[in-house]
Amino acid sequence: MTTNDLDSIVESARQAFAGAPTPAELENAKALFIGKAGRITELMKGMAVLSVEEKKTRGAAINTAKQAIEAALNDRRQALADAELDIQLKAEALDVSLPGRLREPGGLHPVSLTMERIELIFASMGFDVADGPEIESDWHSFTSLNNPPNHPARSMQDTFYVDIKGDDGIPYNLRPHTSPMQVRYAHAHIKKFADAVKRGEPMPEIRVIAPGRTYRVDSDATHSPMFHQCEGLWLGENVSFKDLKVVFTDFCRTFFESDDLALRFRPSFFPFTEPSAEIDIQFQSGPLSGKWLEVAGSGQVHPAVVRNMGLDPEKYIGFAFGMGPDRLTMLRYGVNDLRLYFDGDVRFLRQFR
Ligand code: DAH
Repeated sequence: MTTNDLDSIVESARQAFAGAPTPAELENAKALFIGKAGRITELMKGMAVLSVEEKKTRGAAINTAKQAIEAALNDRRQALADAELDIQLKAEALDVSLPGRLREPGGLHPVSLTMERIELIFASMGFDVADGPEIESDWHSFTSLNNPPNHPARSMQDTFYVDIKGDDGIPYNLRPHTSPMQVRYAHAHIKKFADAVKRGEPMPEIRVIAPGRTYRVDSDATHSPMFHQCEGLWLGENVSFKDLKVVFTDFCRTFFESDDLALRFRPSFFPFTEPSAEIDIQFQSGPLSGKWLEVAGSGQVHPAVVRNMGLDPEKYIGFAFGMGPDRLTMLRYGVNDLRLYFDGDVRFLRQFR
């Protein structure tokens, strides 16, 4: 066999490799030349019969051919891998010039902002913040608050009823006010109270606000069937109407960031307070200047309610109030239609971001 023959083997290897379209077929082609039974391998085996001198030259020539074939194989391997990568890159191509998807920053709903503000201000005055159920028993919503069945004061709230009856046979209601939280909160903490008294500690106070959703059959520019209230309750040994005035005046001035604000306690009626008062505020400047605006109901907690809390009305006295965060939000931001809160129109909501 001559060098020419070796050259032609190398050449046919090159052609076979170039014609292999996939890595698997390339490996098959390789076997024909440098595999166990490949042509080069066979040539090497054939050298056994040659003389030492012949082995040297012949061996060197075969090795050169083998190296050339290996080089051609590696070139083709690389070319196939490159082609595959190319296809993959094209398939996963990213057009970095496309405009990005803009994520607008969100924000809290204006009423949520008000609720947070109310909680912060009352917390700074030592009030706890409590939360309770929106589906309420008749006893909690009315009777416990000195407002028994058939009492005319029940018509003050156009209540939604639920199709489930309580143990007393009266349907549950969607709470029309947060006032049931007064009795609920007292019941939840009464054991702590009794324990403190047993230990001879000073009589604990109840000082709490309960903000949340409330429901009434009512719908116009200033009323929505779902609205918000925030209940307040301060009971202790010696809590008076004067404290109500101080606390509520302080709250309003902090909430509206104005000392230029007058408050008026207008006599009223609620079954759960005696005496009772509506709280009106009056701005001394700005677009609402001079008008009296009702912001809360309030009063000294009725002894019957204190008793229903499980407390002794001879020992516990204090005040309660119920205010409307929706209304406070309208006044603070100058919103003129309550329904805007619940339309979900981002053009409105964005203004509070
Ligand atoms: N619950 C009353 C309402 O919804 C508001 C209210 C008035 C709450 C006087 C009180 C209160 O705690 O003392 O109209």
